[in-house]
Amino acid sequence: MRTVVSTWLRPGKVALQGALVSGQQGGSLLDVLVAGLAAAEDDPDLIAIGRGSLPNTDGELELDASIMRGDTLAAGAVCGVRGLLPCIQVARWVMEKTPHVMLCGDQARRFGIENGLKPQSLWTDELVRRWANFQENPERERAYVHSREDEPPHDTVTMLAHDAGEFVAASSTSGMPYKRPGRVGDSPIIGAGIYADNEAGCAGATGLGEELWKACASFSAVEHMRSGASAQEACEAVARQMRRRQPASRETICVVLALDKNGGFGAGVTTGTFDLWVAQGDAMTCHHFEQVQD
Ligand code: GLY
Repeated sequence: MRTVVSTWLRPGKVALQGALVSGQQGGSLLDVLVAGLAAAEDDPDLIAIGRGSLPNTDGELELDASIMRGDTLAAGAVCGVRGLLPCIQVARWVMEKTPHVMLCGDQARRFGIENGLKPQSLWTDELVRRWANFQENPERERAYVHSREDEPPHDTVTMLAHDAGEFVAASSTSGMPYKRPGRVGDSPIIGAGIYADNEAGCAGATGLGEELWKACASFSAVEHMRSGASAQEACEAVARQMRRRQPASRETICVVLALDKNGGFGAGVTTGTFDLWVAQGDAMTCHHFEQVQD
């Protein structure tokens, strides 16, 4: 049975519903994840991905995305892309149409336009309001963003899929809210934000990108599964090690999620709580995870 998972309560549901529609139309694992993330990118109400997401301190939306297939280890990624959706599609084109793994900034945008995407404004009325709040009082606006339990500030959407021994992982994000211009987190970094290998499973991450990147969180989870761990055991091992070695991960949520070869799924959380949407066949369920025990 096909399993697809997607991160966080609100964006995860949007993404998983988009993925299921693609699956019902015969989409491959790659198609399904691209469709799911494209749906979340296009939703103006999601603050950490695509249209209407929170900008950097220059007031620019800089988007990152990545995708990896577990059969060939082929991967594609883009970072710092402005005014172009779906960003995840550009990452897929990097994987499928170039010999490279990552394109960045204006050249990634140029590549997306060359392949048929139209530049567009990703600003919404709500974003204009939030940006005005930030300009008036940056600390107050940052505190507001971080205090909202219904909308965690690091709710990058990461999706994983498994079907009959095939694994694919993908992620899309606008990165840290009000980040320094040019800052890139874990999401477009293969091994940090996503990893997939049919010989072991696949994994992804969401949360504080600097810490997840330093931990090579996704690769590390896949390596634990290669050594025999289940998806849940692998994610907990990574989250525990992050808490032990990376104090910042005890202050700000970092999440690793995975799918294993036995059809299992799991997530490891360094602090706080996390919701993962899971579709097995066409049935969607939401699973709640608490901070890992040290
Ligand atoms: N995990 C997304 C980011 O930190 O950019």
